[in-house]
Amino acid sequence: MTNAHSNANSNANSNETASGVYSTKIQEQIDQLFSTILTEQQKINKIKAADPDKVNFFKSKLDYYIKNRGREFFYNYISSGKGHGPFTELLDGSVKYDLINGIGFNLLGHSHPLMIKANLEAATVDTVMCGNLQTYVDANEASVALVNSVKEKSRLKHFWFTGSGGCANDLALKLIWQKKAPKYNLIAFKKAFAGRTIATQEITDKPDFREGMPKYLNVFHVPHFDQKNPTTSLYNTLSALDDLWERFPETFSAMMIELIQGEAGFIYGDKAFYEGIFKWAKEKGIYVWVDEVQTFGRTKELFAFQMFGLDQYVDMVTIAKAAHICGALYTEELNPKPGLIAGTFNGSISSIKMGSKIINYLLKGNFYGENGRIAELEKKFLNKMQKVQDSVGQDKLKFFSGIGTMISFEVRDGNKKVTTNFAKKLFENGVISFTAGQDPARIRFLLPLSLTDENIDEIFTILEKTFKEDLWN
Ligand SMILES: Cc1ncc(COP(=O)(O)O)c(C=O)c1O
Repeated sequence: MTNAHSNANSNANSNETASGVYSTKIQEQIDQLFSTILTEQQKINKIKAADPDKVNFFKSKLDYYIKNRGREFFYNYISSGKGHGPFTELLDGSVKYDLINGIGFNLLGHSHPLMIKANLEAATVDTVMCGNLQTYVDANEASVALVNSVKEKSRLKHFWFTGSGGCANDLALKLIWQKKAPKYNLIAFKKAFAGRTIATQEITDKPDFREGMPKYLNVFHVPHFDQKNPTTSLYNTLSALDDLWERFPETFSAMMIELIQGEAGFIYGDKAFYEGIFKWAKEKGIYVWVDEVQTFGRTKELFAFQMFGLDQYVDMVTIAKAAHICGALYTEELNPKPGLIAGTFNGSISSIKMGSKIINYLLKGNFYGENGRIAELEKKFLNKMQKVQDSVGQDKLKFFSGIGTMISFEVRDGNKKVTTNFAKKLFENGVISFTAGQDPARIRFLLPLSLTDENIDEIFTILEKTFKEDLWN
């Protein structure tokens, strides 16, 4: 194994590009541990039913946890901490395909070598967390990797760490508001999801997610691209925007958009749609803020805005999940005055180390572009979905679509309860997915990059079987 320390002379105890103690002995021991851990994790390599003698133990752990947290989990899932590639082992000894990846963060799959490495290297550092006041070179490395990945074509220049995707969006909003004060109105999109903070729950277009909450923001939701009526989408959205402007002229600070709406079940448009609405925003002097919390790393470029060729329009981009670090990328113009932003943590040392590793790995590997692995996965999944639809009928598998590693489909007419039942049956049969959206609800996959063709064949056998069993109606 090589790491950032490998160029250092063997007795050095410091290094310019990575923090922590270092010696040849430590490096040898890390290498040994790395191999031992990876070899053990690699044993989790096929799906498996629960061990009968662990079933009661699992149930008691789950019940105890549920009692403490006050409500049930969506799935009866507690990880054993063992898993490899697309496979995750539960505490009851069962092994399943993980096609949701913690709702998106495990893009590389379980116990990927880079993850093991990031954790082991972090153990050589003198704290667990990286602070904002007292930083480490690792935080700088991750920021530089991010800014370098966008600097060629966009105006994004700075990155600021936050603790979650929702907090990244809060930070973005503060920067935008400071520049545009007192124009505090916001434009967002129907079915948007932006997080669970006080501010982002109002950008999120789901009133039942903020029951009993006071209202602080003026957010106006306009239609996103309509996948079932693509030709009229741009016209409809521009009309809604013009209406808004007529009602509240010169009061908007930003247009906030997920180019691919994750929690809505992967609703997305095309370049012409986005260019049309972004040009409208620019003409009105409104900032373009793209939420890439769920899309980062998962499309046919590192960022969805790059895949759609929208680099010139973006003023603010928020990330989290698969990046392993959370925060906002913004232009020079949006760099705030001192005092507006701070905070204790940047993140854990291991997640920050993982942040730069994953960015470099994704950009150097053959993942992006029309011939990259992500385009290949998208094609394979959509072809297989078509085959399942041909086999089970369109009344059962009504609609499917997908972009990059984000695939979704509708079961029957997209009824929420039926969709939830389907996800639970799929889970029992060995594949973990999640639901998304409402009217219609969809089943959503966030694929790991570690899937092999053999895995994909088995996943679709399970999917077809689940449809045919018809136990979810
Ligand atoms: C598009 C989008 N924005 C923001 C968030 C919030 O991120 P977090 O859960 O890390 O706060 C999410 C989470 O699912 C998301 O999908």
